[in-house]
Amino acid sequence: MPLENRFDELRRRNQLADLGGGPERIERQHRAGKKTARERLELLLDKGSFSEVDKLVVHQSHDFGMDAQRIPGDGVVAGSGRINGRPVYVFAQDFTVFGGSLSEAYARKICKIMDLAMKTGVPVIGLNDSGGARIQEGVVSLAGYADIFLRNTLASGVIPQISAIMGPCAGGAVYSPAITDFVFMVKHSSYMFVTGPDVIKAVTHEEVSFEELGGAATHGGTSGVAHFAAEGEDECLALIRELMSFLPQNNLEDPPVRQSLDPPDRVDEELQSAVPEQPNKPYDIKDIVRPVLDDRYFFEVQADYAPNIVIGFGRLGGRPVGVVANQPAHLAGCLDISASLKAARFVRFCDCFNIPLVTLVDVPGFLPGTAQEYGGIIKHGAKLLYAFCEATVPKLTVITRKAYGGAYDVMSSKHIRGDANFAYPTAEIAVMGPDGAVSILYKREMDAAADPAALKEAKTREYREKFANPYAAAERGYVDEVIEPRDTRRKLIQALEVLRTKRDQNPPKKHGNIPL
Ligand code: HXC
Repeated sequence: MPLENRFDELRRRNQLADLGGGPERIERQHRAGKKTARERLELLLDKGSFSEVDKLVVHQSHDFGMDAQRIPGDGVVAGSGRINGRPVYVFAQDFTVFGGSLSEAYARKICKIMDLAMKTGVPVIGLNDSGGARIQEGVVSLAGYADIFLRNTLASGVIPQISAIMGPCAGGAVYSPAITDFVFMVKHSSYMFVTGPDVIKAVTHEEVSFEELGGAATHGGTSGVAHFAAEGEDECLALIRELMSFLPQNNLEDPPVRQSLDPPDRVDEELQSAVPEQPNKPYDIKDIVRPVLDDRYFFEVQADYAPNIVIGFGRLGGRPVGVVANQPAHLAGCLDISASLKAARFVRFCDCFNIPLVTLVDVPGFLPGTAQEYGGIIKHGAKLLYAFCEATVPKLTVITRKAYGGAYDVMSSKHIRGDANFAYPTAEIAVMGPDGAVSILYKREMDAAADPAALKEAKTREYREKFANPYAAAERGYVDEVIEPRDTRRKLIQALEVLRTKRDQNPPKKHGNIPL
């Protein structure tokens, strides 16, 4: 074959791969408000940085007339690229090719880049848009999924893994994203479920739409499966790029430093009045989180799920930190099942990837009620306790107001290896709030008193003076320093600076047995 023809043949094959399922299906994808796999990668990665692998791979299936339909690439675009100059491995499922369904060859492509990512210590980002297992391939496709699940699990805690759901993601296919560290969804064009509306209707007679069952609002707000619910695909991909800026490439690296012009010793007078004088008045903990961080910027995670606890990333003196904060503006900041799960997974993520934890505490305790007890608040709350206990990254804690009961211990207290524990003068560290304590301690006296209300008031005042302050804890060294709120940023940055070289280890073991 003449040399020119050989080049033509390569170009022809590449063009075929570029076109995926063809112009008509691409048009259908666009009409549905969705971009193609290649268009998405263009937006996700630094311009011109994508380097593709296995572009010419085709499936090996012969059944159901499949040998007549071979499209180079076989429904997934895979390779490596850069985000803000740093390498990432990526795959993007191509819905225009057999509905993005997963074949044996397709699974091998994903496994190939995952194996390379593990060898090189580089994060993996998967853009999901797929009808699931390729029906024509049967069990071979299921095997392909299992090969991916295994790699997701082995890579967990070694390299960051990120999933974006940008179309359907159904059946067992949901479990790869579920194992990864962060799940992004796009509002109104993506959904995830184990069994779809038709099966649900047949089995339970419930009628539910795709969106209600597994859309971004459902998983961002109700189930907590998704960490981000983006308005559109562009926003989704931009959010992934931003998240990456807080993360190291792997568990052996520190997260990237981004210097800011925000002075590390900036004093914030507004913080002095951020905690209200009345102990039961709600306030927004983000009014403390934001001013403390570099450039007052907080990148919140799972903003719509369990709002009684706030989690997310920020920077202090240029270094990324993970923030965990009780939110008195919701459920008075009580810990419940959802909040415990949300924060526990985040704490473990930060610990895996050397991201120091900053914990802000204003918690009246665990949420009471049969729903919580029957739902297993004991084991779910224990997850958060376990996560903070086992974390060996620098742990900085600020008690802004209430730190009552077991929740005091849980929230990165000194006793579970908090490294720098601060409290505001407004802190109240006690077994329980004054009302509950006085009712228990003086029940008999109040029953017998001529004026029980007056007695209660007097005893409450006495209790408040004794325990509703940080000094009993400070006298024992359970808080290292009682600080004025305006100094929070300076104090945290100073502590973080010293803790940069922190080394701590847990006893050697195969793995712990976190209460699941
Ligand atoms: C092969 C598939 C496919 C699949 C879709 N297609 N799903 N081909 N295997 N699983 C093909 C269609 O034949 C069609 O081909 C093209 O993709 C687009 O599909 P449409 O149905 O036209 O698109 P749309 O109306 O948008 O509907 C999308 C859909 C629907 C909701 C995803 O296609 C669907 O319900 N697919 C089946 C989903 C499913 O049950 N999958 C198995 C889940 S269980 P043409 O040639 O017409 O363009 C599973 C197990 C994983 O995945 C197990 C892991 C352990």
